[in-house]
This record gives sequence, structure tokens and C-alpha cells, in this order.
Amino acid sequence: QAGLETDILGKDIQHFMELESTNDYAKTIAGDAKEGTVVVAEVQKKGRGRRGFDWVSPQGGIWMSIVLKPSIAPADASRLTLVGGLAVIDSLKAIGLNPSLKWPNDVLVNGKKICGILTEMEAEIDRVEYIVLGLGINLNFNTDMLPKEIRDGSTTISDELGTYVGRLEFVHSLLYNLEQYYIHFKTQPFEELMERWIDSSDTIGRNVRIVTPSKMMKGRAIGITPSGGLLLQKNDGSTEEIMSGRCIYI
Ligand code: BTN
Repeated sequence: QAGLETDILGKDIQHFMELESTNDYAKTIAGDAKEGTVVVAEVQKKGRGRRGFDWVSPQGGIWMSIVLKPSIAPADASRLTLVGGLAVIDSLKAIGLNPSLKWPNDVLVNGKKICGILTEMEAEIDRVEYIVLGLGINLNFNTDMLPKEIRDGSTTISDELGTYVGRLEFVHSLLYNLEQYYIHFKTQPFEELMERWIDSSDTIGRNVRIVTPSKMMKGRAIGITPSGGLLLQKNDGSTEEIMSGRCIYI
């Protein structure tokens, strides 16, 4: 933890050579854990992505989950996915990359995915008990390590920069940025973070296809809603808030 300039995040860091999934492990300890507890693994054997997909997690990446305990309503939990994306964007910019955000949770560099975020929560009807914010960052490995199906759409920091980046420094930078945004999130109106998100996003203004388990919609992405959803203007002119789904640029 030397060099970590945070007050809340990473005061307790649990490091593992290997875990099935840092999110799964974090959920087993989250009830009793201090806010800001970080779980990080060198390798994940059963890393999970959104929508039930596997998340391939070889040595060299940052596979990390953070336990957060904000006093918020369950309906606002998706906001933290956007907060996580903002922090990743700042850390990537600091090492010279030019990243963008794709709704709801992808961080892209040169149009390819470099980071994925999986936010999971435990909640009562009106109160969040804890949130596990899972970050998967393709740091120091070659995309050849990834399965063929996702290789073309993915990239890594070392592939983009042509050099390895200090893992610990990157984790510290990420936790620092995340803490700044998290404090902002807890104390200031969310609208400011929504604006920042839109500024860093390449989704807004695009024609998109949204696929959810129950339907498929086409339209133009015109904004982000206060709950962290995507505002879609459909071809008939009506608008709809999409809370989750797959977003495909067309
Ligand atoms: C996505 O589908 O884009 C989300 C990927 C999230 C991957 C991270 S890696 C650390 C944490 N543990 C997991 O099992 N998943 C998340």
C-alpha cells in the first residue's frame, strides 16, 4: 500500500495469486468488510462478464473488486458503473492513451475494449447493503492470450503503448481517481458526473441498436438518465430509457 494516496479505498487490500472471480469472493466477505476493501487477483479462473459471459483473465491484467457501502437506493446503483468508468478514463489518459466510454460500461481505446466493469449489489427494498464494483483491465499482456472470438474487438494497454506499465502504480492511480469520483458521487449532484461521462463517451449522438433479453430497439442515443440509463430516441420520435442491454453501434 505504500504510495497509495487514498482515505477510503484500498485501506484493506486482499491479494490472491488466483481466484475464480474477485467479484464472487468480494461478495462473500462484503457483509462484514470495511468500505473500500479491495480484492485483487493475478489470475481469475472463472472471471465473469456481464450477461453471463466469461471474462478471460490472464496473468498481467488487473482483476479487481471494490466493496462500497454508500447510503443510496438500489435504483441508483447503476450510477456507480458510470463512476467506475470515469476513474478508468482518467487513469488511462494519465499514461497517454485516448480512451472513450461506451454505454453502459465499456472503456474503449481505438474502438476496442480495454476494460469492462461489472457492478453487483446486495440490497433491501429501499437501501443498498453493499455494492461490489468489479474492474477488469487489460494491462500487461498480448491480445493473442485472448480467445479468437473476442480478440479483434479487444486491446490491452501494453499492446496500445508498446510497453509494459507498472501494475502497482496503475492500481494506485485507479483507486485514487475512483475515490475522488466516489466522494463527488456521495456529496454532489449526480448531473455533473453525467456531464463528464457524456464528454468522455462516444455513444451519445450515435445510431444504435439495443438488444435486451426481451426486445430489440433501434434509434439514436441522445443522453444518459439520472439513474445511469441510456436515453434512446426511437425512429418514431418517442424516447425511452434503457436501463440495461447490449448497445451496438450501427
Ligand atoms: C464486462 O462484461 O464488460 C464486465 C467485465 C468485468 C470483469 C471484472 S474482472 C474483476 C471482476 N471479477 C469478475 O469476475 N468480473 C469482474
